[in-house]
Amino acid sequence: MKTDVAIIGAGPAGLLLGHSLRKAGINAVVLEHRSAERVLSRIRAGILEQVSVSLMDELGLGERMHAEGLPHDGFLLADGERNIRIDLKGLTGQSVMVYGQTELTKDLMDAAPERGLDIIYEAEGVELHDVNSDSPYVTYTKGGKEERLDARFIAGCDGFHGPSRKAFPKDFGVEHEKVYPFGWLGILADVPPCNEELIYASHENGFALASMRSKTRSRYYIQIPLTETLEDWPDDKLWDELAVRLGPEAAANITRGPAIEKSIAPLRSFVFDQLRYGSLFLAGDAAHVVPPTGAKGLNLASSDVAYLSRALIQHFKNGDDSGIDSYSETALARIWKSERFSWSLTMLMHRFPDAGGFDRRMQVAELDYIAQSKAAQTSIAENYIGLPL
Ligand code: FAD
Ligand code: DHB
Repeated sequence: MKTDVAIIGAGPAGLLLGHSLRKAGINAVVLEHRSAERVLSRIRAGILEQVSVSLMDELGLGERMHAEGLPHDGFLLADGERNIRIDLKGLTGQSVMVYGQTELTKDLMDAAPERGLDIIYEAEGVELHDVNSDSPYVTYTKGGKEERLDARFIAGCDGFHGPSRKAFPKDFGVEHEKVYPFGWLGILADVPPCNEELIYASHENGFALASMRSKTRSRYYIQIPLTETLEDWPDDKLWDELAVRLGPEAAANITRGPAIEKSIAPLRSFVFDQLRYGSLFLAGDAAHVVPPTGAKGLNLASSDVAYLSRALIQHFKNGDDSGIDSYSETALARIWKSERFSWSLTMLMHRFPDAGGFDRRMQVAELDYIAQSKAAQTSIAENYIGLPL
């Protein structure tokens, strides 16, 4: 089989890129090693910035998102003493959209056949070949049969553990990483949210987040040590702890219900500082990971795709390679700023096992400053709604 762009991974990055290319009349095939059901069963991000909303709109796939998604004009930072409201709309003129990653992924998957975007699920043993040439190819096994996909370019959208980043030569590109000494335990339940807006809470016991997927589906998280497992957190204990960390006002409004999903995600900051090698490009989690605080992961995948699709379209339509030549540098400038924001919000809101009294005082002082400074709130707001492309 032959195509223009072979895309590895049917997460948000791969699917958004595939649709963007198809819209411009460029052929693309997506290779995904899981089944569609398995991809859709992974509960991940919940907040879309304007960059993600605009991409869906430009693709003509934003109808369900606008009908079912919830625009949010602000959120709360709770520090035990008070709730600091970050008025996104008032401070920046923009809002964010509550719409789950699974819903966005489903919309992109469902529209693929009518848009001529081939997605090959359960493509096992994907390997990249000749990536430093003009005729790279990918081999894989489907239903026990060995297959080969030839392309002009390969887009590695295969997440943090995928094979694309590993196809770069050992001495090409540096990995920058910070691993945090805790994870987030998340619970999804079909109960109304405890508050109309998200609450990010910094409590003596650790961080907690009250989020949602709709007016009837809640998503909550708490910070836990990496040594703890799901067995340590039966539902009742988790609901009790959420009530403590989110504070009495929110606790009074928490509706408990059975978990639809419960999982633990470790927190990590990671940047691979090269997004292109020859005919191979990286986008999304394949190139960078942020800790979830601030909801940047999916949105960063969207901004990578906005840059990369524009660059590839320039190449195929106008023979202009300036976009693909500058892709790495352009995308990394925005990536580092999102990394900084996610890291700083993580450092501000979590409890660190080795932190002393001074470190805690710094967190309290910063929250106190944010509470009193419109400039500080504006800085948080403009990063939260997403920096311009
Ligand atoms: P992914 O969504 O990871 O997609 C990569 C795709 O590549 C997957 O479908 C995978 O199956 C496929 N793939 C991998 N290896 C191969 C292979 N060998 N062959 C073929 N296909 C392959 N962000 C937030 O903003 N908020 C959150 O609450 C949040 N929670 C998260 C929880 C977890 C457990 C994780 C891992 C991430 C979370 N994120 C969250 C981050 C966010 O979900 C990601 O940033 C986003 O999914 C990135 O999209 P992507 O398409 O780059 O990667
Ligand atoms: C969600 C996750 C986040 O990391 C965040 O900052 C906001 C919302 C969520 O899953 O709903």
